[in-house]
Order: sequence, then C-alpha cells, then structure tokens
Amino acid sequence: IELEIVPDHESASTRVAGWIVEQVRRKSASVLGLATGGTPERAYELLVEKVQAGHLSFSDVTTFNLDEYVGLSPEHPQSYHAYMRSRLFDPAGFNLEQTHLPDGMAADLQEAGQQYEALIAASGGIDLQLLGLGANGHIGFNEPGATEASRTRVVDLAGETIDANARFFASAEEVPRLALTMGIATILEARAIVLIATGESKAEAVERAVRGPVTPDMPASFLQRHPHVTFVVDEAAASLLK
Ligand code: F6R
Repeated sequence: IELEIVPDHESASTRVAGWIVEQVRRKSASVLGLATGGTPERAYELLVEKVQAGHLSFSDVTTFNLDEYVGLSPEHPQSYHAYMRSRLFDPAGFNLEQTHLPDGMAADLQEAGQQYEALIAASGGIDLQLLGLGANGHIGFNEPGATEASRTRVVDLAGETIDANARFFASAEEVPRLALTMGIATILEARAIVLIATGESKAEAVERAVRGPVTPDMPASFLQRHPHVTFVVDEAAASLLK
C-alpha cells in the first residue's frame, strides 16, 4: 500500500479529484468505481468545477458504485442513487445510462448481486476504484468478518456503521439495516485503487489496514494483497502511523 500523507481534508480531496481527472484524460471511456459517504463529497465538488470550467468531460465514462441500502428507492434522498445524482452525475454531465449502483429495491437481491458482478465484467472491469474507509475498517459495506472471496451480496450493517450514518437520517432508527455491496474480491479486481481517509476517527483503521495483519477483522487490510493501492490520508488519519 502506497501512502500519501497530506495536510488536511481539502488537500486530500484535491489529490483524489486529480487522480480521477488524470484517469479520465488518459482514457475517456474509463470505468470508475465510486464511493459515497462524507469523505469524497469535496472531491466530487472539485470534479464538478472542472467540468463546468470546460476542462474535462465524463460523458464517455462508465461507473459502478460500491453499495446501496436495501429498501431505499433511487428517489429517496438518503439513497446512494440520489447522493450520486445530486453531487456528481447530474452536475458533472455523466451519461446516466452508463452509471450503475446496486439495486437495493430488487425483489431478488441475490440475483441482483450476481447481475451487478456480470455487468462489471461485461464493461471490461474497473480501471480505478475509489474507496472510503469505515472507522471499523469496512470498505464498501464489507463489515468486519467479510471474507476475501466475497462478491456483491446482501449484508447486515454493523451497529457502528448504523450509528455513524445516522447523521444523514432523521434518526438511527431510519437507517436501513441491510445493504447490497460489492465484495472484497470484487474490489480487489479493480486495476487500481485509491482510498481516501481523513480525520482522527479513521486513524486506527488506517494504521491497522496498512500495518496490521491481513484479516477479516479489518476488511481494509485485504487491500495489502493488491499491487496498486494508494491511501490518500490527512495528518489526522495518519497520526498513528508515526
Ligand atoms: C460508501 C462506502 C463506505 C464509506 C465509509 C466511510 O459508499 O462504501 O465504505 O466509504 O463508511 O464513510 P464516511 O466517508 O462518511 O466517513
């Protein structure tokens, strides 16, 4: 795992946006793997600014998001479909037909997971996967206990994830208990991976992911098995690495 330690969240966001810009300039029909959550919001804003300034086009790009809550429709404001459309896809001019998220409303969720895997494969695989990091070490919604062979599937959200994500909902009771998420094996198939983690609350997970043993207890530690992973972390998230 390569480490890029930058001063703060703003510089981490600039770095990650720059990574995506370079990828899309090199290959306009790139396949990007995308994350939601609080951490990448600023990077997405920076990408929107680039497009609006005429410096970049995402119209040929294909995207696959990591995860979606089970039971939230794409119109639900806290769904990851809605997050992606409002923060990135609509303002940055993506071709919506080429943007994909797991279907958390599918009648058969297991089949939906398999179809998602097939769609990723049919697109030629992910060129660049962006990840956030849970304070408990999750990537996507692969909570502690997830195996290296896991694929897109339904998972129970960990109690600490429900609590952490309650800030986006009226109360913790409203946070869905289930999600559809790419698996660890799905993520590790991306040709390159960039993880962004900022703030003190991520410091322990960063340290264990980078230095600790590779174990399902710390799902992000599986990234040590991939040859092209970069962690972009601010000083606070890197504070236990020194
Ligand atoms: C989001 C995702 C999650 C988040 C993680 C960190 O699509 O897959 O793994 O990246 O929960 O969330 P924030 O950035 O809100 O701290």
